[in-house]
Amino acid sequence: MNIAIIGAGSVGQALGAAFTRIGHTVTFGVRRPDSDESKALPGAAVSMQQAVEAAGVVVVALPWPATQGVLESLTGWEGKILLDATNPIKEGLAGLEEGASGGEKVAGWAKGARVVKIFNTTGYANMSDTAYANGKPVMFYAGDDAAAKQTAGELAAAIGFEAIDAGPLKNAALLESAAMLWIWLAVFGKQGRDFAYALLRR
Ligand SMILES: NC(=O)c1ccc[n+]([C@@H]2O[C@H](COP(=O)([O-])OP(=O)(O)OC[C@H]3O[C@@H](n4cnc5c(N)ncnc54)[C@H](OP(=O)(O)O)[C@@H]3O)[C@@H](O)[C@H]2O)c1
Repeated sequence: MNIAIIGAGSVGQALGAAFTRIGHTVTFGVRRPDSDESKALPGAAVSMQQAVEAAGVVVVALPWPATQGVLESLTGWEGKILLDATNPIKEGLAGLEEGASGGEKVAGWAKGARVVKIFNTTGYANMSDTAYANGKPVMFYAGDDAAAKQTAGELAAAIGFEAIDAGPLKNAALLESAAMLWIWLAVFGKQGRDFAYALLRR
């Protein structure tokens, strides 16, 4: 599968390396494709517009303040599967923005894209290495397009997560709150970053 990643930071690189390991072709959409940093990425680097055009699945891993401007500046979203890993977090990790979920806002900015909220509820290190001795970390995903959700869930499962369908895109708000809890636990709650959510069942 051809997967584009917009935002080649911690999350973008972790997912890019993980998808490359399992045989997908990853292209990064970046601001400076010719920079030394871009050349060191785990995949080819092109402009963000070229990346969107070349792939059926586009991961968005941008800082929240940049997300609206970048998504609205790009064309060709119609029908693309957009995997939204962003979290609408206020400056200084001071909580989530009020109003609609980030996932629903993303769907309004990338007009026509089939948005699935995913890869936002755990730290990037858990995306590059999903191995835990005592079980699989969980990855929740939420969206309104059944086929897009299936692709999202399969990708998450293929890199080692237990992928759980968490309902419609409006539930992105729940996933973003779960992300904020993970961040609080990691940064303020003394858990560090080497932990992940998992599901236990009877
Ligand atoms: N860090 C985590 O563990 C984690 C986990 C889950 C979800 N998230 C969410 O995922 C998103 C990305 O987080 P991150 O930690 O990967 O961020 P990051 O390491 O800061 O990387 C952000 C990337 O976005 C690019 N970027 C920044 N401003 C841009 C702009 N105006 N136009 C185009 N590209 C721009 C940067 O490119 P340049 O090199 O050109 O500046 C960089 O490659 C955030 O919304 C975050 O809340 C993060």
